[in-house]
Amino acid sequence: MNENEGPVRILFVCLGNICRSPTAQGVAEQEISRRGLQGRVEVDSAGTGSWHIGSPPDRRAVHAAADRGIDLSRQRARQVHFDDFHRFDFIMAMDEANFRDLVSMAPAGATQKVSKVLTYSDLGVAEDVPDPYYGGSHGFEQVLDLLENALGLFFDQLNMDHASGQGAR
Ligand code: 4NP
Repeated sequence: MNENEGPVRILFVCLGNICRSPTAQGVAEQEISRRGLQGRVEVDSAGTGSWHIGSPPDRRAVHAAADRGIDLSRQRARQVHFDDFHRFDFIMAMDEANFRDLVSMAPAGATQKVSKVLTYSDLGVAEDVPDPYYGGSHGFEQVLDLLENALGLFFDQLNMDHASGQGAR
């Protein structure tokens, strides 16, 4: 996919860009490294809201990800830009509200780039990645579990792995 046009670019989007979408970026970075896709797939994250621009991810998200070998600490929150709809090939919303906001912002012709990340999941437990911001630490583990499942399957479908082309991990 996209072989002749440089890397495949994926943007993950939530509301604040301090809990779910930074976690999605970190999970995707781990998949990219495991599958040898560095330079062939690029990932970033953003929020539909502006409250946390410039902030690092929530400490609970950083700690939960670190326990799984994923480093979120260098990320800083930013807001979705109009230009993102041109730059990215896939724009993955964490929940229905993010999805609707993105579709309403998207220029003509770019709405097909916008999806909900859990459409790639096979767990069948939820359509939305639940917002863990106002809950306890369990919520952050659940976010990681959902995203590891969905993004593992997404990368299997991309079928770009160097090793076997069949999603070997
Ligand atoms: P996120 O979680 O969208 O997963 O980053 C949130 C973080 C902060 C707020 C809302 C959601 N907030 O309203 O400040």
